[in-house]
Amino acid sequence: MNILKMKNYEEMSKAAADYIMNKIRQHSDITLGLATGGTPVGTYKNLIQDHSQNGTSYKNVTTFNLDEYIGLSGENRNSYRYFMNSTLFDHLDIQKKNTHIPSGVAKDMEEECLNYEGMLKHHGGIDLQILGIGSNGHIGFNEPGTPFSSKTQIVDLASSTREANARFFSNINEVPTQAITVGISTIMQSREILLLVSGESKSEAVQQLLYGDIDEQFPASVLRLHPNVKIIADEAALAGSR
Ligand code: F6R
Repeated sequence: MNILKMKNYEEMSKAAADYIMNKIRQHSDITLGLATGGTPVGTYKNLIQDHSQNGTSYKNVTTFNLDEYIGLSGENRNSYRYFMNSTLFDHLDIQKKNTHIPSGVAKDMEEECLNYEGMLKHHGGIDLQILGIGSNGHIGFNEPGTPFSSKTQIVDLASSTREANARFFSNINEVPTQAITVGISTIMQSREILLLVSGESKSEAVQQLLYGDIDEQFPASVLRLHPNVKIIADEAALAGSR
């Protein structure tokens, strides 16, 4: 794994955006895997700024997001579809039909899992997957104990994940208890992975990722088995790393 240490969140976001923009300029029809949450917001802001200043085009870019809350439709302000539209897609020239996010309100959620996995495969997979990490080591919403062989699936959210994400809702009772997430083996099939990590609250997770056992109890540890992972982290997240 290649690790790039940046001073703070702003520098991490700038470096991540630069990396992604360069890839888009080289391959205008790139397929990106995208994450939500707080970590990539600064990166997305930089992408938007570059798009308006330098005209980097997303017309031929395709995106697949990692996850969605079960029970929230795309119109719900807390859904990841709403988040992605308002935080990124609405500010780029990307074609909405090329942006994919699993539905959290499909009639048959098992079928939605199969369809999303199939769509990804049919499209030819992810060129560059952007990831964040939960402090318990989750990637996507694959919580500790998820088999490394998992594909797109319905999961119960860990209470620590619901607590961490309660900041986006008016109270914790509104945070859904389940999500649909791309599985660990699906993430591992991405040709390249860019993991973004910021802040002291993630430093233990980073330690465990870099030096702990490769174990399903710490999902992100699987990334050590991937041949092309780049981590862009700030100093706080890397505190204590050798
Ligand atoms: C979001 C996702 C999650 C987050 C993780 C970190 O799509 O898949 O794995 O990346 O929960 O969230 P933040 O960035 O809010 O700390």
